[in-house]
Amino acid sequence: MRGRSEPPGQEETDMTDQHVIEVRPEIAARAHADAARYGAMYEAAKRDPQAFWAEQARRISWMRPPTRIKNTDFTGDVTIRWYEDGTLNAAATCLDRHLAERGDQVAIIWEGDDPGTSRRVTYRELHAEVCRTANVLKSLGVKRGDRVTIYLPMVVEAAVAMLACARIGAIHSVVFGGFSPDSLAGRIQDCGSTVLITADEGRRGGKRVPLKTNADAAVAACPTIRHVLVARVTGGDVPMQAGRDVAWPEAMAAASPDCPAEEMGAEDPLFILYTSGSTGKPKGALHTTGGYMVWASFTHQYVFDYQPGEIYWCTADVGWVTGHTYIVYGPLANGATTIMFEGVPNYPDAGRFWQVVDKHAVNIFYTAPTAIRALMREGDAHVTKHSRKSLRILGSVGEPINPEAWLWYHHVVGEQRCPIVDTWWQTETGGILISPLPGATRLKPGSATLPLPGVMPLLVDADGKTLEGAAEGNLCIADSWPGQMRTVFGDHERFRQTYFSTYPGLYFTGDGARRDADGYYWITGRVDDVINVSGHRMGTAEVESALASHPKVAEAAVVGFPHDVKGQGIYAYVTLKEGIEPTEALRKELVAWVRREIGPIASPDAIQWAPALPKTRSGKIMRRILRKIAANETEGLGDTSTLADPAVVEQLVENRAGG
Ligand code: PRX
Repeated sequence: MRGRSEPPGQEETDMTDQHVIEVRPEIAARAHADAARYGAMYEAAKRDPQAFWAEQARRISWMRPPTRIKNTDFTGDVTIRWYEDGTLNAAATCLDRHLAERGDQVAIIWEGDDPGTSRRVTYRELHAEVCRTANVLKSLGVKRGDRVTIYLPMVVEAAVAMLACARIGAIHSVVFGGFSPDSLAGRIQDCGSTVLITADEGRRGGKRVPLKTNADAAVAACPTIRHVLVARVTGGDVPMQAGRDVAWPEAMAAASPDCPAEEMGAEDPLFILYTSGSTGKPKGALHTTGGYMVWASFTHQYVFDYQPGEIYWCTADVGWVTGHTYIVYGPLANGATTIMFEGVPNYPDAGRFWQVVDKHAVNIFYTAPTAIRALMREGDAHVTKHSRKSLRILGSVGEPINPEAWLWYHHVVGEQRCPIVDTWWQTETGGILISPLPGATRLKPGSATLPLPGVMPLLVDADGKTLEGAAEGNLCIADSWPGQMRTVFGDHERFRQTYFSTYPGLYFTGDGARRDADGYYWITGRVDDVINVSGHRMGTAEVESALASHPKVAEAAVVGFPHDVKGQGIYAYVTLKEGIEPTEALRKELVAWVRREIGPIASPDAIQWAPALPKTRSGKIMRRILRKIAANETEGLGDTSTLADPAVVEQLVENRAGG
């Protein structure tokens, strides 16, 4: 590998492919993998995936160990099966098997929104809570294979609810607590849940979130829901519907702590998680049990170099896949102490993360570039006034991290001691696919670096031709890995179409990437109509249909545009109905409308009134042009000759919103 290394203390200003930060010897010395071990594992997984993944399967506990390891085919109907004759229970592998050795070790440290509040739950206590809750779910009629929707804030009960479902073989579908009643209802209807688990209220940044009220509004449109199980978080007074709603604490008190774990097939579903795509409604990504658990455990151990006894903190919300794999399943499978944080990075002030790091002596810290950028703006003093001496490894996830933010994270937060793992992956992939390993991989600011063992990335051009060497193209994966999603819940054809039809035989990620001369990957962002706002994935079509449902809107087109803190912002072009005047009040009303329809994360950052949208003669909106105008790259707009009315473009350029 070429490149210059970083002399101690020298300013890192060179932001090119040649800017290399060496592996730290003291990290490599005790890491699970150094460079040689990473290389050997990568080769072994490539040469003989059956043998490699048979060996890795031992990291979790099985009821019947698998003998058939990999049975996958990206062509035809697309079948993905791992460990198919093995049986296990995900909750048992996260809890029961730790009881003998580390029953009294803390499994979850909960840190409240209010800095004065925290709670420590041992493996033994968590096991007991999960068993009782599993019995509560049974008493509400939940059976193996049933779907349970979870709409909770970041409280211990969220992990308990997930694991209780897993314990009895029910499939959980966690819906982020920031989603609107409509979004929640859509997700319940799609998978036909019979029980909804929610809370009286949530807390975030000193404010309360009316979860039960939202849940009631959603359930009104969801006839499949028989019961609503309600956690007590704030103690706020919320209406309970007799016969339907059940107070969780009271039900727990009456439930037995004894609940044998259901024996599940490796390919039985563990959870559904809805995620946005280019078109249509969010898809229910379905993950199964055996392969997902192996991948969660494997990646959590190697990517974060998790060592026994360490305190590990992922700041994500359990409503997203990061929370599933790297707050709950991965860390607990590995017997780690995992932190669940209820709050936000800037409450009560911009030093909150580092205050919590010191309070709990956090060793491994994993967050999103949007948070790093937001904190960077607040100045170094919020960081430096806390010691952070416990920190050993830093991680980033959710969107490309710009080199400036990377370097600030490295210098100011990590004081150049802590390797940064920039982890690239997706809801669909179940866990991390491309990332440095702290003791093995030389780092480059802004690059997710190299694939994990078992991951075969490929760059292809628009025609599907494989690109060799240093190149830029569409990122595909050539073969299956155990953590991959298996299908779209209830719509296997959509799964096949979305991921395997663009480049037959390959899994298409929807991302673009560049590979440099060292073979390092640099993710450039989505190449489809998905936008990534503060690391939250949003389909432009969803925001468009929310806008178009407003009575004064005739049509809307939504694109992403570069945003300093959020990575991408939401830019909406709105055509009003005949006779409706565009006003500032209406602009505000539309923003509020989208928040109500989808949730605050979908709020448009800019709305431009568009008397007309640029369309081809066949009526297709030319988003390429809209993206350029939104980004204020109005110089080379490219070929507009295929437009039905090229004058529309000039008008849009003139009236660009200052977003
Ligand atoms: O575009 C990539 C971006 O986030 C997308 C996946 O979003 P989601 O399914 O919500 O999962 C987010 C958490 C894994 C990807 O298609 N993305 C995620 N991580 C990175 C990233 N882009 C660049 N660098 C990353 N480290």
